[in-house]
Amino acid sequence: MMAAQLVVALLAFTSLSAASEPDCKELVRPLVLDSHSPIYGKWILHVGSWDKHDLKTDLKSVHSSWVELSPTSDSGVISLYWADRLSEEKCLQGTANITISGITSHAAFIINGHTSYHDGKYYGTCSDCLLSEDTTLLSDGKSKGRYLFLFTRTGALEPSEMETFKKQAECLGFLPEHHFVSTDLCPDDRESTTTAAEKTEEDQAEEAQAEEQPAEN
Ligand SMILES: *[C@@H]1O[C@H](CO)[C@@H](O)[C@H](O)[C@H]1NC(C)=O
Repeated sequence: MMAAQLVVALLAFTSLSAASEPDCKELVRPLVLDSHSPIYGKWILHVGSWDKHDLKTDLKSVHSSWVELSPTSDSGVISLYWADRLSEEKCLQGTANITISGITSHAAFIINGHTSYHDGKYYGTCSDCLLSEDTTLLSDGKSKGRYLFLFTRTGALEPSEMETFKKQAECLGFLPEHHFVSTDLCPDDRESTTTAAEKTEEDQAEEAQAEEQPAEN
């Protein structure tokens, strides 16, 4: 009799705790990285988490961050441009080639002359959001720790989307700590060089228009 009651009580308890736990299988769906992945374009960082306290200091030094992911002619390579603001005056930016295989990616970032190696995974999340897990690798290839970054198109995030992020972070074993960044973004340093050709075309169009207008008057 007592044993039966205990079993009932235990069953009730386990089903209760199961109901309050996030459904991690549903919440954490890795994206297969191919040309159809919804990961391309410009993304603005909203929040980051970490799984080791040592990683916190590095992330806290980032005031704002944006990235742009573009496909390349090689289906196994994604091109990345990144721009991090470290202070009001200091911006760091660079490019990297991300090699992908299935759901994992690998990239080498050259920051201030040092190369740092990263493995990445992307997960399905809110629409117009990019959830990226970044594993920083030590020189022996072992993990130094992981970051979880949530990027959005505008840099803004709905409170309900933040709640989902917290649950996803918990599922993936991140600490319940967050670093929110500003949207005071670094300028795109490529604009001065790579779009020079486009500017010339625009200038030519404007010149042509300016020539036409006096004739109309
Ligand atoms: C990326 O790959 C392209 C093509 O192989 C190469 O020209 C470029 O220098 C690479 N960029 C970086 C940052 O490694």
